[in-house]
Formats: sequence, C-alpha cells, structure tokens
Amino acid sequence: MSYIFVKDIKEHLGQEVTLKGWVRNIRHSGKLLFIIFRDGTGDIQSVAFKPELGEEAFEAAKKLTLESSVILHGIPKAHQKLENQFELAIQSLEVVQYAEDYPISKKEHGPDFLLSNRHLWLRSSKQWAVLRIRHTVYHAICEYLNNNAFIRFDSPILTPNACEGTTTLFELDYFDEGKAYLSQSGQLYLETGIMSFGRVYDFGPVFRAERSKTRKHLTEFWMMDAEAAYVEHAENMQIQEEMIRFVIRSVLAKCDQELDILERDKEALKRADAPFMRMTHYEVVEYLRTKGSDLDHESDLGAADEVMLTEGSDTPIFVEKWPKAIKAFYMKRDPENPDVVLGSDLIAPEGFGEIIGGSQREDDHDLLLSRMQAEKMPIEDYQWFLDLRKYGSVPHSGFGVGLERLVTWMSGIHHIRETIPFPRMIYRIYP
Ligand code: 4AD
Ligand code: MG
Repeated sequence: MSYIFVKDIKEHLGQEVTLKGWVRNIRHSGKLLFIIFRDGTGDIQSVAFKPELGEEAFEAAKKLTLESSVILHGIPKAHQKLENQFELAIQSLEVVQYAEDYPISKKEHGPDFLLSNRHLWLRSSKQWAVLRIRHTVYHAICEYLNNNAFIRFDSPILTPNACEGTTTLFELDYFDEGKAYLSQSGQLYLETGIMSFGRVYDFGPVFRAERSKTRKHLTEFWMMDAEAAYVEHAENMQIQEEMIRFVIRSVLAKCDQELDILERDKEALKRADAPFMRMTHYEVVEYLRTKGSDLDHESDLGAADEVMLTEGSDTPIFVEKWPKAIKAFYMKRDPENPDVVLGSDLIAPEGFGEIIGGSQREDDHDLLLSRMQAEKMPIEDYQWFLDLRKYGSVPHSGFGVGLERLVTWMSGIHHIRETIPFPRMIYRIYP
C-alpha cells in the first residue's frame, strides 16, 4: 500500500491514508489515545478511538513507547480550532518496533549528555528545525551563485600546503610524498578555476585545529568559497551582501515553521535584509574606543568587540581595509595605503560574529612573491599559485562563508555545535 508524507497531509483531507514514522509523544485518557506522530517531514497529532480500533489493537497501541516506529492508517482532517493544523483519525496501526526506554525526555539534559547522545538528539524538534534551516541556507547559497554565473568547482581536501597559516593545520602522512594537510579553505585552488571559468565556487568540509573552546568554533565545518575574475574589492562586498540578503529571504520564505519552533525573532531577520554598512578597520577601532574598548590599530577584533560593534545595528557590518600584518599573505595591498589590504570581514548582528572573510587578491607576481618571502613561506610548494600571476593575471576577488556560523545566526541559537549533524570540537569526536 502506498503512503504519504505528513508535509502533504492537507492535500488528502477526508481520504484514507498511510503514514510511516515514529512516536514523538503519547498519552491516553479513557477510550482515547493521542499520539504525536512524526515522519521526518513534519508532526501530526493522531487520535485512536477504542471502539474504532477494537479492544486488542487499542491495548497494543497503548503500550507504544516514545520513539517506537509505527505505521498509521487513518483519515486526516483539519483541526477544529487551529488554522493550518491537521489531525489524523487512526483506523488501524502497525507497530514496527516497540522502542526501549528512550534516554532523552522532556526534562532538561546537560549539553554533554545531549552531545554524547547526538545520534538520538537529532530527532528532537529543535534539532530538526535547525538542520532543516541548514538545508535551506545551503541551497539558497548555491541558487544565488548558480544564478550569477558561478560554476561549481570542487577543491581538494587533502592538500600539500596551507591556505590560512600553519597554526591550525591538521597534518597526516601521505604515503611516500611526505606530509599532507586537511584543507582550511579551497580558496587557492579556486583562484586557478577562475582562469578557466571566470567565476567559481566550492562547498565542502574544511578543517582547523582550533584550540578555541568558544560557541563559534568547530574543528570541522563547511565553507563555501567563491572566487571571481575581474571583480575588485567593492564589487566583492556587493556580491556578498546580495547573497546574504538572498539567504535571509529564502529562510523567511521556506522555514516559517522551523523559525517558530526555535522561537526565532523573525522581525530581526527581516530588518537585516537592508543595505549593509561598511567601515574600515581604522574607523572601527576609533569607534570602539569611544565606547570604552582599549583595542589598538594593529589588532584583530575579539568576540566582545564584534558584539559592541554591531550593537544597535539591524544589518551585518563589513569591516574592510585591515592592517596587512594581521591578514593573510594573498590579500591585495590598498593602492592608496600600502599598510592596509583590500580585505573585508562581514560581522553578523545580534552578537553572531564573523560570517564571511573575503578580499581582493594580490595579482602582481613580484609583490606576492616578496610578501611570501617575508613570511618565510616554502615558495616551491606554492609555485603553481604564483604561476597564475604569470599567465594572464587579472584583478580578482573572493570570499568564504562559514555555513554553520550563518545557520547559527539564521536560527538564533546560542551555540554553533547544533548546526551540523555531528559537531567536531577539540574536546569531542564521539559519536
Ligand atoms: O575568514 P576565514 O579564515 O577565510 C578564509 O578561509 C578564506 N580563505 C576564505 C576565502 O576568501 N575564500 O574563514 C571564512 C569563514 C569565517 O568568516 C567564518 O564564518 C568561518 O569561515 N570559520 C569558522 N566557522 C566555524 N568554526 C571555525 N573554527 C571557523 N573558522 C572560520
Ligand atoms: Mg576570518
């Protein structure tokens, strides 16, 4: 017998249907049994009436435990009071498995317990909602790029060299070739791609041996790197802004139910879909100092600085033109001030921190080489990267979005660990 999904229930009102899923919750009173049934696409309250089911089937149903797997046959109807809510009148049911005592209950569990039971915790409504938002954000990013002449160009995960400095590299032995490293960002490879395709992006897991135990850091996370030929610094920020605003609108349009489950302030998301402010690093430091910060002009922003900066701002803020000493070797020097680079970080509002790092790239062979020499980088390992500056070099720019940072902001949740099915952090690798 064919079956339908809970998400499609309103197209089947009054018809006999079959649903396949699990028991989220169950209670009975007299001749009535109420099951909150879920099938992955949604939840529906289902009601069994003893005279309708028969004595034996009703008693078997009463024994259902949380998370038991079950197949329901019944007739869906609109909820008497609540708009857009439906109920299933159960005619019969098949128990697939009576679940053992389920370890996750309604009572508060500590984060460590929940993370150790991540394989089960994933079924909870909030986790379900966050990971569905992740799905929507992922596809919205791809949709925006696909509509704007970007070609998917997958970069390798096993690499012979570092993209973002050597302090956060995961290292491994690669047969007879010596050391290899897990990719921190596909950017350098994407720069080769633009010379063939003009605009490219990758989207996949990247790795950072981050010692930070913060609510914003994972050791394995997903990054979308985008790179575009003939795009300069200002246009690079324009593309980022358009993409993020497209993502916000997609989440609002497609994840209404998920945002409700998470009690996300949707108005705050709507307000973020407006022109983003741009400030230079110099201006940011001056501004933060008026608010009591002791930040200097040579330093990176800390988490508290990011919060202070975006306080009172509805939209993300671009911090651009960073001192070159604290940014990566590949960033292009500002022709108007050689001490700063044409890079930007995009800082999300509401305290969610940096969501994008991007820059115009140094396209002059000799300037790039001297910067790499000054940083004592192993030039022979990067010869291919330098080659790009010899054969038809062009101005070009790109950026990298941290998927989980963006999903944390969209979902309005506290900790990044809930935005990926199996989070990897310095103190956690199980399950
Ligand atoms: O700013 P990052 O380090 O930039 C790069 O890697 C560039 N190569 C990207 C590019 O230009 N193609 O990292 C980009 C983004 C950050 O803005 C942040 O959102 C996220 O990746 N990110 C992390 N997310 C979770 N956990 C971590 N440990 C992260 N480190 C960076
Ligand atoms: Mg960064």
